[in-house]
Amino acid sequence: MTRSVTEWVNVTGDISIIARESGEVWFHTRSGTKEGADPFAAPMTGAGSTGSTVGLLDGAINLGFAEIEQRLARPEPTLVGYAVALVGAYHTSVDTPRNLQRAAGRFVELGRPEVAAYLEERAREETGHDRLALKDLRALGLPAERLVANYIPEGIKPLCRRFDDLCVEDYPIGCIGYSYCLERIAALKQKTDIEMVQAMCPDGVDATRFLRSHSSLGSEAAHVEETIEFVASLPANDRIRVVQETYESALIMAAGYNHELLKSEAETLEELQQAIGGALPYRHGSSPSRGEARGARTDMSETMP
Ligand SMILES: [Fe+2]
Ligand SMILES: [Fe+2]
Repeated sequence: MTRSVTEWVNVTGDISIIARESGEVWFHTRSGTKEGADPFAAPMTGAGSTGSTVGLLDGAINLGFAEIEQRLARPEPTLVGYAVALVGAYHTSVDTPRNLQRAAGRFVELGRPEVAAYLEERAREETGHDRLALKDLRALGLPAERLVANYIPEGIKPLCRRFDDLCVEDYPIGCIGYSYCLERIAALKQKTDIEMVQAMCPDGVDATRFLRSHSSLGSEAAHVEETIEFVASLPANDRIRVVQETYESALIMAAGYNHELLKSEAETLEELQQAIGGALPYRHGSSPSRGEARGARTDMSETMP
């Protein structure tokens, strides 16, 4: 009889995530076990399975967001907030292919062609996604190039920096955890989320190219599946590192969302206008073509890659 796979990863000083092939996941606190009696104190060394690997990865995201969730601001969506989210989407996409290729090159040097091949494939798949965000901004009547050149939303900066740093590490396996975190969250977006944004947009304007492609309707769901399978096939040390980085990225992402969402509508509008050097082409805080106010902001997560 083959034993079912159990995987575990310590993600913070005290908390480990434990996941079984069957799909069970739980958080384990070291301080809650008797000294010397903790079966999860030593790092795992066995092979992975897709069932347990997805449990660890999603457990890491849930844990990262849970630490901030209590304080998460949840304002109503608006076009101004959506435009800022698109600028964020541009910045988290523009360097992705180059960064992934750099990490792939390092894995070639390290004699790990299977990791290099996976990263190269991902680099190809992500190519051009920054242009989807630019097209959406243009569709909203904004000077897209000038806007992104002059403006990186404050909450997005640490995320971009994290990915840049991970991809130039001597052993850049953590970049897979970062990508998983962003893609998994994007893949949670449903048709109704896209329709909600479409309803805010002026009639006849298609500004949801990026959102569609980075949702459950686009390629993101397939990217997530591929990544889970690939991570499950990696040696235990790599899986540990990927899950730890998924957790760190979720923390940074949750803090970034919160930072952006806590801004007032007026502050966000001011930032956008400063970046384009003038007024927006439509009245803020409402749908330009439909008159009645539809509320305020759009969650940054609408357009995360
Ligand atoms: Fe993707
Ligand atoms: Fe993408």
